[in-house]
Amino acid sequence: MNDNRMNRVIVALDVETGGRAMEIVRACEGAISFFKVGKQLFTAEGPDIVRRIKETGNRVFLDLKYHDIPNTVANATVEAVKLGADIIDVHTSGGFEMMKKTMDMVRDYCAGHGVPEPGIFGITILTSLDDNALNQIGYTGTAAQMVVRLAVLGREAGIAGVVCSPLEISLVKKACGNDFKTLTPGIRPLFSQSADDQKRVMTPADAFDAGTDYIVMGRPITKASNIEEALKKLDDEIG
Ligand code: C5P
Repeated sequence: MNDNRMNRVIVALDVETGGRAMEIVRACEGAISFFKVGKQLFTAEGPDIVRRIKETGNRVFLDLKYHDIPNTVANATVEAVKLGADIIDVHTSGGFEMMKKTMDMVRDYCAGHGVPEPGIFGITILTSLDDNALNQIGYTGTAAQMVVRLAVLGREAGIAGVVCSPLEISLVKKACGNDFKTLTPGIRPLFSQSADDQKRVMTPADAFDAGTDYIVMGRPITKASNIEEALKKLDDEIG
């Protein structure tokens, strides 16, 4: 198994129930150790689902994409740290002050309680939006230009990295440096034909080759008729 790459694959648990989520976690045992809890599962099951996954010894990316006034986002993020989330995300378009206050409060909490600092990542531009969709909501630049601009702002505010399309990995690394991390959804392996609603997609191998730190993949794994087999194919493909 290609540990170095498989360790950095995050499986998105976009399912209705905690029971199904835990089934997927079990089916991934030995291959995947990082899972994403997003809005659907969190709304259905509440914070307990994060604790249940953490109890299995796996890492959790809590993907609630916080976007609000600085005080609200900073306090919500600290609650996510208390839950044990390893990666937490906020919208970079919430602005510099929002990200900066969040980082300050997370660092204070972690230092005061002797807990490791999680990775705070910034959402740039959703991978379901293309240039046309962006223009519709009043963004004047291209997706790539907006991503770079928001990533630079996030770096200045002290966040660990950004969530971006795999097509923007090298642009972000060039603008923000190699130590500024990228986490990329919009990944479709060769064995999965459907792009679903993702518009800016890349294969996992190409995303890692382009230098991404983490990839997030949901449906190609969670909707596979045989998850173990899909993971085996993924491992072969990214090796
Ligand atoms: O099933 P699929 O692989 O498309 O899932 C991608 C996951 O990544 C979803 O949970 C989606 O919410 C999330 N995501 C995304 N684009 C972003 C940020 C997160 O697709 N920019």
